[in-house]
Amino acid sequence: MNTKRLPPGGRILIASHNLGKVREIGALLVGLGLTCDSVGDLGLEEPEETAATFAGNAELKALAAALAAGRVSLADDSGLAVDALGGAPGIYSARWAGPEKDFQSAMKTVEDALQAEAKEGVVDRRARFVCALSLAWPDGHVETFQGEIAGHLVWPPRGERGFGYDPVFVPEGEDMTFGEMDPDHKHRISHRARAFEKLLVRLSESEVVGASQDAIGR
Ligand code: IMP
Repeated sequence: MNTKRLPPGGRILIASHNLGKVREIGALLVGLGLTCDSVGDLGLEEPEETAATFAGNAELKALAAALAAGRVSLADDSGLAVDALGGAPGIYSARWAGPEKDFQSAMKTVEDALQAEAKEGVVDRRARFVCALSLAWPDGHVETFQGEIAGHLVWPPRGERGFGYDPVFVPEGEDMTFGEMDPDHKHRISHRARAFEKLLVRLSESEVVGASQDAIGR
């Protein structure tokens, strides 16, 4: 039985300065009667992502916010892991696009690396997107929920929808890339959706409404 609860009023601090992410997460939490604000609203800095895993980075961001603000905080970390590249770009997915956030170039870098790994002319194109979501309490307690979606990479990129590596990723059981498919469909099946499903189960187990003051774990 998990004894950790959410704060009175069910308010969660989102440990991200990315407005799109804050909005997307906020929209999901509203359905549970929770409200949220973000570290940007409080003028808090995001820490450097120094961990070696998605979960490690999500935990470090959530904990930094929880400790600085004294509030239950939520952070995420995500990226593309390519089998033939030993999981790269992985936690460096955003960095492979450089300061210009040039994902055409990042996708080409992945494709070139894949070709270089070809064995007897056969390229192993398997890859997956991973998303880790961490919920941290001000006493240092952290819970992490991870979602993944397996698929394969195509070349050249296809589709103008989505973002990042979406145009080269075809999820298992689908024909279209994430960049071609209806975004609503992507959001239902994605790594992020799967991590959120687990988080929402956990949140709905908490006594959000009428939680007592000691619920915030201090
Ligand atoms: P972060 O979690 O904001 O650090 O993002 C990591 C990077 O992973 C993003 O900049 C994208 O390059 C990539 N990424 C994460 N999720 C997706 C996705 O759903 N589609 C495409 N790229 C993604």
